[in-house]
Amino acid sequence: MAAIHAREGTPIEGDGLSRPAGATAPSRPLLQIEDLRTYFDTDRGIIKAVDGVSYEINPGEVLAVVGESGSGKSVTAMSIMGLVQSPPGRIASGAIRLAGEDLIGKSEREMLAIRGSRIAMIFQDPMTSLDPVFTIESQMAEAILQHRDVGGAEARDIAIEMLARVHIPDPARRLGAYPFELSGGLRQRVMIAMQLALRPSLLIADEPTTALDVTVQAQILSLLKEVQAEFNMAILLITHDFGVVQRIADRVAVMYAGRVMETASVRSIVETPRHPYTRALLSSRPRIGERGRLRAIPGTPPNLANPLPGCPFANRCAEVDDSCWIDVPRLRAVGPDRQVRCIREDSA
Ligand SMILES: Nc1ncnc2c1ncn2[C@@H]1O[C@H](COP(=O)(O)OP(=O)(O)OP(=O)(O)O)[C@@H](O)[C@H]1O
Ligand SMILES: [Mg+2]
Repeated sequence: MAAIHAREGTPIEGDGLSRPAGATAPSRPLLQIEDLRTYFDTDRGIIKAVDGVSYEINPGEVLAVVGESGSGKSVTAMSIMGLVQSPPGRIASGAIRLAGEDLIGKSEREMLAIRGSRIAMIFQDPMTSLDPVFTIESQMAEAILQHRDVGGAEARDIAIEMLARVHIPDPARRLGAYPFELSGGLRQRVMIAMQLALRPSLLIADEPTTALDVTVQAQILSLLKEVQAEFNMAILLITHDFGVVQRIADRVAVMYAGRVMETASVRSIVETPRHPYTRALLSSRPRIGERGRLRAIPGTPPNLANPLPGCPFANRCAEVDDSCWIDVPRLRAVGPDRQVRCIREDSA
């Protein structure tokens, strides 16, 4: 793979949090989510999709968010982006701070500016976020012109440079292509290039490689890791795949039924999982050579509109006892870099 030259003087704009490689992390997290609750008002009642989520991401850090389907991973991400559709959705309470500044309550106009320049997002299927009727050039140029203080010719140069950085061959020619003319892997690269051109301090990647074949998946992950290091960009990576987690994440947040059940470093999560749900997730991993989604954990997740009292995982937990059915356990710090939501940790 061609080496990418460190770009001189590429500060991460906006929050003053850029730091030289190797420097110790500043004490303030880039993103802090505190007790976030995002609800949907539906015919079936209030669906508490996100029900007290807290996690943090430091500048330049890769946090993987894992958990079964429906656990609230994407709704949390959409809440950060200010993209939860209302109605039926609403942020009922909590805080989402970017470099200390609360994003909840910002106007649509303010969020539009933040989304372009400080937080970027890539989705599972870039076809949904690339506009089929415009060329790559017009889409990239528009985004760059909107969010960066440059003229048209410079925007084109930036677009070409970014396409080259994500290893797209013959980038000047590709600028004239329409999204449907590109393979899935190339489209995802274009999306990444487009988001990087805006120099975000946080990239949210929601299942960015799930739709791609294994080889392309590996290439995109290497690319994300490479640009993350080069731009000192933090990544919030949503995935079902522990293989992906181990390749690129620093820390993991395990979500279940709209809550974080455990957070820790990748190594701690994989080697010494503390929450019974984390253990169940790990043992449901596909075996080597058996690609794809997690195998099912026996039982079903709770009804988010009408949950039973107690721990949301109690009905499926291998270690359940009577005390688990009383209250939802608190997310509690155990050790320097781990938090666990389990009653056993309360009494430990
Ligand atoms: N517009 C909506 N109206 C009602 N319920 C919704 C809406 N959007 C999401 N939900 C519910 O919120 C819950 C969390 O959904 P979310 O998309 O965050 O799950 P996820 O963890 O990202 O799952 P997956 O791994 O399948 O992507 C689900 O129960 C979902 O049905
Ligand atoms: Mg999702």
